[in-house]
Amino acid sequence: MFNDTLHEMILSEDGSFTAYSKEYDEHYHSTRDGAMHESMVKHVEPAFKLKEKQDEIVILDICYGLGFNTLATLYYHQTNNLTSKLKIYSPELDVSLVKSLVDFTYPKEFEIFKPIIKSLSEVGVYEDEYYYIEVFLGDAREYIRKFENRFDIVYQDAFSPSTNPTLWTKEYFQDIKRGIKEDGVLTTYSISLATRLALFENDFNIYLNIGEGYRDATVASPSKLTIFKEVDMKHKISCNPDAKSLRD
Ligand SMILES: C[S@@+](CC[C@H](N)C(=O)[O-])C[C@H]1O[C@@H](n2cnc3c(N)ncnc32)[C@H](O)[C@@H]1O
Repeated sequence: MFNDTLHEMILSEDGSFTAYSKEYDEHYHSTRDGAMHESMVKHVEPAFKLKEKQDEIVILDICYGLGFNTLATLYYHQTNNLTSKLKIYSPELDVSLVKSLVDFTYPKEFEIFKPIIKSLSEVGVYEDEYYYIEVFLGDAREYIRKFENRFDIVYQDAFSPSTNPTLWTKEYFQDIKRGIKEDGVLTTYSISLATRLALFENDFNIYLNIGEGYRDATVASPSKLTIFKEVDMKHKISCNPDAKSLRD
């Protein structure tokens, strides 16, 4: 049974289950956008639009949670017949959550990944010809410091800045900047000015991820991107002179 004292399984609008965290008083996904749909349109598709032609794609998935972003990435890789090697690194603080995921009711699209879900849940690693995936059981802040110039993609999918501020500060994004490649791409559901400022202050360019059927989201990159509309941060700052990024 997945439900326990800290988590409750909840049906989201696209028919996939997400969870509600009693500890953080927050859902793991937007129940309105749908768990599976949100992973695809806010993280996997915008990132892979830029990266899918690479032979190797290295991904930081912040944080593993129910594993939707990692699993939706594998699903995208398979349904688009990609031959790139994927390396996914994902920290997660909640050890008992990861251990309980063998009992989670995933969407049917993830059915074929059962052996991967089991391996990640039980030993924290999965590897085959195409995939290397590791779930680090511990603090993301500590984990990300060991990487330099390594990631093509960062999925920034922590609980909201008000609930889990340490994963949204200027100093946190400074470590992310160190880990991401110059042409890497970061995706996040957050559109708050504080989040965008924390990224901008670390020399990320900020872009809009907008589309039908989901709420607006953000894409960021140390490089200039042409396929997304850029957010004019200097203008935003001049209109909101008191706005501040979160700090440690
Ligand atoms: C919104 S959920 C992630 C959802 C996930 N991306 C998915 O697709 O299912 C946020 C996760 O961050 C984890 N978390 C919170 N603080 C953390 C930290 N400092 N280091 C690692 N994980 C953390 C929580 O336990 C929770 O599972």
